[in-house]
Amino acid sequence: MTYSERLLIGQSAPMKEVRRLIELAAPSTTTILVQGETGVGKEVVARAIHEQSERKGKLVSVNCSAIPSELLESELFGHEKGAFTGAEKTRAGRFEMANGGTLFLDEIGDMPLPLQAKLLRALESRTIQRVGGGTDVPVDFRLVCATHQNIEADIEQGKFRADLFYRINVFPVQLPALAQRAVDIPLLVKALCDRMVKENKQLAVPTFSESAFAELMRYPWPGNVRELRNVLERACLLFPGRQVEGPEIANNLLKIKVPDPVEEQDALWEATADMAPIIFDNEPTEAPLPHPSHYQDWFSFFDNIDMRRHLQDVEVVLIEAALRKSDGMISAAADSLKLRRTTLIEKMKKFMIEKPVN
Ligand SMILES: Nc1ncnc2c1ncn2[C@@H]1O[C@H](COP(=O)(O)OP(=O)(O)OP(=O)(O)O)[C@@H](O)[C@H]1O
Ligand SMILES: [Mg+2]
Repeated sequence: MTYSERLLIGQSAPMKEVRRLIELAAPSTTTILVQGETGVGKEVVARAIHEQSERKGKLVSVNCSAIPSELLESELFGHEKGAFTGAEKTRAGRFEMANGGTLFLDEIGDMPLPLQAKLLRALESRTIQRVGGGTDVPVDFRLVCATHQNIEADIEQGKFRADLFYRINVFPVQLPALAQRAVDIPLLVKALCDRMVKENKQLAVPTFSESAFAELMRYPWPGNVRELRNVLERACLLFPGRQVEGPEIANNLLKIKVPDPVEEQDALWEATADMAPIIFDNEPTEAPLPHPSHYQDWFSFFDNIDMRRHLQDVEVVLIEAALRKSDGMISAAADSLKLRRTTLIEKMKKFMIEKPVN
């Protein structure tokens, strides 16, 4: 198993492509630019590149947006004794610490313009100058940069130097958002849970039913893998050692809501329904409909609503869904809508809804 396979979980086509790119580029000293939304794994990619490169030195990370700009220069390039008030000793910067290894510049888009010039010089000459020092210090570094910003737009606004961009964008790696590779979610859930248990042996990770996975795979994940990890951590606390069902994902984990003990009991009954003899002949539970009262505040947010059109839209969606469920059987669809068969046919004509063909 390669480093990138171990670190970067996922069998989706875009993830395989990312690993292929890493394996191609890692052994060289080519500068790599990792791009992708927040939480997609840019830092993981930097680590995978470093491990796979088998460079003897360390992986040294600098988050350009987390260090105040007036400190960033000396952090990166180091300083000579007496270079500024407080510089009591000569200190090596992160470039020198990364000698023989990899320097990871995270959030490169936030690097202040004057420093961009200095970075460009370091990249071209492979030497650096400490703050307050006049000599060029040669450094053998491999540069990996990352950003979640659109650097091209920053260039147009004069916030990022175009010449530096061409220097760092030698080998771009674009990480796909989690929603674009939802097929990876089951593998990621397993890997992230294993990791959590390793870190904290007391954790009782839950298991996830098929419907739970379906919910996880439907969610848009704006915070990507980091958000998934947070949801799993929450699941460990709310459902320790238990099987989590689909509705609980939607109701308790994606929206933060502590499970209600009564609902909880219902969920348990549902989960164990096929094990226990049927004692209760319960009415089927009501489906979670959007409540009519939700429209009460409509005019606090909007000036108007095309009510007739809106209600028709709802009708169309429900009729089509019912027809799909009944495989096009009109009377069954009418039953599930609690309509008379003839009423349904009239509505289908009015809205020009066709029966689905299998
Ligand atoms: N493909 C993956 N396989 C396993 N773990 C992953 C993967 N992608 C991301 N992670 C995990 O998700 C979390 C977020 O990843 P990371 O910090 O690398 O994201 P990022 O892209 O750097 O985010 P940001 O832009 O917010 O800095 C980490 O805990 C990381 O271990
Ligand atoms: Mg990061």
